[in-house]
Amino acid sequence: MKDANFLKANNARSLWHPMTAPSDSLKNPPAIITGGHGVRITDVDGHEVVDAVGGLWNVNLGYSCQPIKNAIAAQLDRLPYYSTFRGTSNDCVIELSEELRKFFEPDGLVRAFYTSGGSDSVETALRLSRQYHKIKGEPGRVKFLSLKKGYHGTHMGGASVNGNANFRTQYEPLLPGCYHIPAPFPYRNPFNESDPAKLAQLCLQALEDEIAFQGAATIAAFIMEPILGAGGVIPPHPSFMPGVEALCRKNGILLIADEVITAFGRTGAWTGSRLWGVRPDFTCTAKAITNAYFPFGAVMIGEGVAEVFENDTTGRAAIGHGYTYSGHPVGAAAALACLAETQRLNVKDNAAARGAELFAGLQALQTRHEAIGDVRGGYGLMLALEMVSDRASKKPADKAAPATVQSVAYKAGTMVRVSGPNIILSPPLVLTSGDVQVILASLDEGFSAL
Ligand SMILES: Cc1ncc(COP(=O)(O)O)c(C=O)c1O
Repeated sequence: MKDANFLKANNARSLWHPMTAPSDSLKNPPAIITGGHGVRITDVDGHEVVDAVGGLWNVNLGYSCQPIKNAIAAQLDRLPYYSTFRGTSNDCVIELSEELRKFFEPDGLVRAFYTSGGSDSVETALRLSRQYHKIKGEPGRVKFLSLKKGYHGTHMGGASVNGNANFRTQYEPLLPGCYHIPAPFPYRNPFNESDPAKLAQLCLQALEDEIAFQGAATIAAFIMEPILGAGGVIPPHPSFMPGVEALCRKNGILLIADEVITAFGRTGAWTGSRLWGVRPDFTCTAKAITNAYFPFGAVMIGEGVAEVFENDTTGRAAIGHGYTYSGHPVGAAAALACLAETQRLNVKDNAAARGAELFAGLQALQTRHEAIGDVRGGYGLMLALEMVSDRASKKPADKAAPATVQSVAYKAGTMVRVSGPNIILSPPLVLTSGDVQVILASLDEGFSAL
């Protein structure tokens, strides 16, 4: 490894970072992370902090999960790669599919299709949902509905159902036939409705109206995150996703749960769909499926969809879709070890308990710091603080304010993530109460510096 001087001199010089302008990375050099242990990361200067970002919502078990590291190393020795395209498979992926089936059975999901990450999983679910209708003799069902403020990765299909202009405008034209309804976001919504239950009903009415307007027979699927993540951590009212499910069922529309963040315990339940009592047709997973140690994902497929594909007599059920790394044996070995550790440690319960402590602590911070306009959380370890320059008008904070909070909090011992006016927290699910206090104290310092 090159020394610190080399790394700092060349930081962002010959690479472009995702999700920012190349010039920004040169003006504001990224933190160079060189080590990770437990729930902490260390930078090139040896400064150690609690990682309240959890990598990118994905290092659920922290940086020291030895069983996953061992599984990866052993699999690299045994069989570092083989394809799962027609005609070949591998031992790990067969075993993993049985384990995932058991894990996702309460959600009604019985088959797996493997990918290299979340965007791939979304793309897969969108494509297979169109194919499902074609097999069933309804080729006109091609449109997709989704939520404004939703995030579904960056492939063309995913970007088209995304509900945030930042990921769309510069890449247009996107996929035709994608329509968005308002998110059930009590702090900001076009209905000016702050009651979460009433707002959920208004958003469901908007969905019903859009289905009628488009024509149910033209719509393939509705895709949503059970709790919106990258859009600023927006937990919908508990009535919302079941309401979406009912409208989908009534209209023959498939329901895709994008659980790239929420699967495997982050919300305090094993899946976001289970949290809301919903049984989706597809569930997109990635991220924590390997604790981020290997790029890997799985689309879980519902019983009804599986039946249509498996009992097809039309010849239209051949899957003309897949990735070179679908079912990668090293990824599958990592996922097997990760799933075992995730369940052995029962991380969903710790996510719920530490999430409640963190949420209460953030609400206490709000009473002391005017810049905190909204505190969102209450479901495990996905939380956000929305910063404003004026609480009464909810005017969003100037760009510099969240950056100041972030940099002071970092010096004080915690890495947090800034996304627009939001400070987003998604720490590892193996966090302790002591770690929660470190995060809160660091944020307190950050806000006190404004
Ligand atoms: C809900 C959701 N879907 C899809 C994705 C895309 O996943 P990836 O970045 O692994 O392609 C993300 C990434 O954060 C996500 O949060």
